[in-house]
Amino acid sequence: MLRKLTYTILFGHLLLLISCNSSTENTQKYSIGFSQSIDKDLWRESMDHSMEVEASLHPEIKLTILNANRNVKKQIQDVENMIEQNMDVIIIAPYESDSIVPVIEKASTLGIPVIIVDRKVNTTNYTAFLGADNKEIGKIAGKQIVSLSKGRANVLEIRGETITSPGSERSLGFKQIIDNYPNIKLSILDYDNSNSPKSNFQKNLTSNPNIDYVFAFNDIIAYKAWQITKRNFPNNRIKFIGVDGLNGPNGGLQLVKDGVLSGTVLYPTGGSEAIKLALRIINKEIVPKNNKLNTTMIDSLNADMMSSQFDKITIQQSNIEQQQNIIKNQEIKYSTQNNLLKLLFFLFVIVLSLALYSVYSRVIISRKKQELEIKNIKIKNQRNQIKGYAEELKLSNEARLNFFTGLSHEFKTPLTLILSSVEYLESEFKNKGISITKEINLMYNNSRRLLRLINQLLDYRKMEEQKFTLRASKTNIFDFSNRIISDFDREAKKKNIDFSLSTNNPDLEVYLDRNLMDKVYFNMLSNAFKFTPEKGKISINVKEDKINNSVKIYFKDSGIGIPDHELGEVFKTFYQGSNSNRNGSGIGLHLSKSFIELHKGSIEIHSKNGAEFIITLPLGMAHLNEKEIVKKPELEYVYQSDYLDLEVIQRAELKDVEDKYSILYIEDNKDLLDFISDKFSTEYTFFLSDGTDAVAKALELIPDIIICDLNLPEMNGLQVCETLKRDLRTSHIPIIILTASDDQNSYLKALESGADTFLTKPFNLKVLAQSIKGLLFNREKLRYYYTNNIVNIEDGSFGVSEQDFLKKLNHLIAKNIEDSSYTVEDLASDLAISRVQLYRKVKAILGISVSDHINNLRLFEAKELLKKTNLSISEIAYAVGFSTPNYFSASFKNKFGMSPKEFKILYHDSTI
Ligand code: FRU
Repeated sequence: MLRKLTYTILFGHLLLLISCNSSTENTQKYSIGFSQSIDKDLWRESMDHSMEVEASLHPEIKLTILNANRNVKKQIQDVENMIEQNMDVIIIAPYESDSIVPVIEKASTLGIPVIIVDRKVNTTNYTAFLGADNKEIGKIAGKQIVSLSKGRANVLEIRGETITSPGSERSLGFKQIIDNYPNIKLSILDYDNSNSPKSNFQKNLTSNPNIDYVFAFNDIIAYKAWQITKRNFPNNRIKFIGVDGLNGPNGGLQLVKDGVLSGTVLYPTGGSEAIKLALRIINKEIVPKNNKLNTTMIDSLNADMMSSQFDKITIQQSNIEQQQNIIKNQEIKYSTQNNLLKLLFFLFVIVLSLALYSVYSRVIISRKKQELEIKNIKIKNQRNQIKGYAEELKLSNEARLNFFTGLSHEFKTPLTLILSSVEYLESEFKNKGISITKEINLMYNNSRRLLRLINQLLDYRKMEEQKFTLRASKTNIFDFSNRIISDFDREAKKKNIDFSLSTNNPDLEVYLDRNLMDKVYFNMLSNAFKFTPEKGKISINVKEDKINNSVKIYFKDSGIGIPDHELGEVFKTFYQGSNSNRNGSGIGLHLSKSFIELHKGSIEIHSKNGAEFIITLPLGMAHLNEKEIVKKPELEYVYQSDYLDLEVIQRAELKDVEDKYSILYIEDNKDLLDFISDKFSTEYTFFLSDGTDAVAKALELIPDIIICDLNLPEMNGLQVCETLKRDLRTSHIPIIILTASDDQNSYLKALESGADTFLTKPFNLKVLAQSIKGLLFNREKLRYYYTNNIVNIEDGSFGVSEQDFLKKLNHLIAKNIEDSSYTVEDLASDLAISRVQLYRKVKAILGISVSDHINNLRLFEAKELLKKTNLSISEIAYAVGFSTPNYFSASFKNKFGMSPKEFKILYHDSTI
């Protein structure tokens, strides 16, 4: 609305500005046309000029002067044009009297007033005539000559064109006077415009030298005649009289003053009078038809006076003109200023309009802003609500997922038990020669299948949480493939499937996360076996693509394939193939794709005569970041087949309790606790803890190995491990952490807490047995090292805590080496541990009793003294804490195979 108003105001002002052309044209309400007949003529120019001056005094008048240049036809045309333009008054100075009449009458008929000036026309159908009486002019001239000549003279009259009224009337008036004087002899000569001396006019003029007076039609002719006669008769005293008496340099008045002419009859042009008359007509005044202009004789007597009069008039006129010019300039200035003012006003209006508009806009904007703010607040509230809902939803979703994840973890322990039991049963039956492998396999297979599904679920959750970090290590892809496919051999044989593996480079090495890629292979192959009928074909082809620096693994089967329209769907989560009536979780292929993508690889599928999955993996390690590369695979994967191996855990030989290593198994699942202890009790002394007394039991028993579950009721497995590893008494004991969660984080935490091995449930009994053996073997190696480097303990490179312990121990023994009464009890109390704990720890680390260790140190010290001192054997025996020299000698010989005496002879440094 306001915008419209603003535009209207602006447009209005623009129009106003455009229309405000302040030129005088606007004030010129009346048009007067003047048709001049003759050009290049002083008298006519004076007439035009005086008209212009007069007109300029009347701003309401617009004067248009057209000159016919002595052309009668043009003058008629000029008047016609003025009629056409519907001039208010037409002034005509006719060239001749007849031909102009029709156009004058036309104007009159059309109601346009016509003023005739100077010459007369042969009609009375005009408004007014203005001019001097030419007959009277002729008479004045005649009277002047009569007076000057006193009625006796030779007079020559040079006539103008007698077809014009001035020409005939002046001649007539002159003749009427001259005829009254018989002694005045008049001869007449018609004027000829020719400048040639041979022309009739010039010849006639000079033919009679006795002329006293010449009366010429006008001052110009009189002056010409004077010049001709002057040229021909320099001493001639002819007196010349002209007509017009114009003021100015070449005018008749000046000629009189100069003595060229004896006189001139004033013939006023009537220019200003004609304009005044026209104005009166315009103003609807009644004007006389005949308007006579006054005339007079100008001679040497009044020439100066007349001249000064005329000069005054001229000065006045020029003053008027100057004033006019000033006024015009003022008008222009005024008009410019006026325009500027209008422009300023216009701009002001624009600025005002804009200001108004901006105020209006501000109001509107602030209103809209308020509305928007309100909307914004509403949206924010809604967003917060939605966010709240989403948060709640997320939390409840998380809670559910965590519940299912937890539940899935929980499934693992019972499954471990089932699987281990089945393994055991298989072995038991086999030992007893009973073959019920079909049922056992069924149980085993389905337990494995269940476990796989649980693992897939957990992997899917992990993938969703982006918790997977690639742990890629350099792997021979052919060997890797070969090892995995061997696990499917049995199935291939069972279904009579032609199952093959081929490659174009058996040495090709690829950076793989073996654990993840194993799952991918398993998924590919179990799919292939699922859909390939008996006597079908399954092939794996590992092909190095040197050009693209990649490897392609083709899994091809001759199964039922996948419908074309489903090809794009197979890798989506929860995809259930329409061609499969066998239930699947629908996440296997999705997970496989995700695992491959973690390797920066891709997977595609084709289906023609069966299905073909093509996995592409980049070669080298440039595509992996530092964190994703492991030098040595942390967990050497132990593949657990769906089918039981025929050999299970080798039955350990029964051992004496003393010979057996002791194991403390901390587990809150009673079944698993019983199961494991049952399986290993023949080989090891098994102590059990449900987790509530884990640390106390470990301290009390100082076992050779501790197996500890991660999830315990009071302290968790990591805390137990950390506590035991920090305690001097138990720090040497190897600890195996068992857990249902196999994520990297738990693994790292376990290592940080000092655990030696990390096994995920369900663990294979063979793997557990092997891990226990490996740790005990390492312990043996350590013992061997310590016992053989008893004096170099400090430089050892084994466990730091054991080293610290041994350093402390050896230091205390060395300190008290002379004191034969320094007992094991003293040593234990100095170390702030019990005698039994000291015994067990020393036994565990060094494999010997504490007293044997003290003895060894005494004997090693004696050896040194024997080599490097001159002390006697008895002195040395006391110095190293033996109560009698004999006992020392016997012990020394027992240890080193020679008596101290013999040793001294062989090794004593003679330089001492
Ligand atoms: C000028 C003129 C004047 C004269 C008048 C008569 O053209 O010749 O000298 O007085 O015309 O019409």
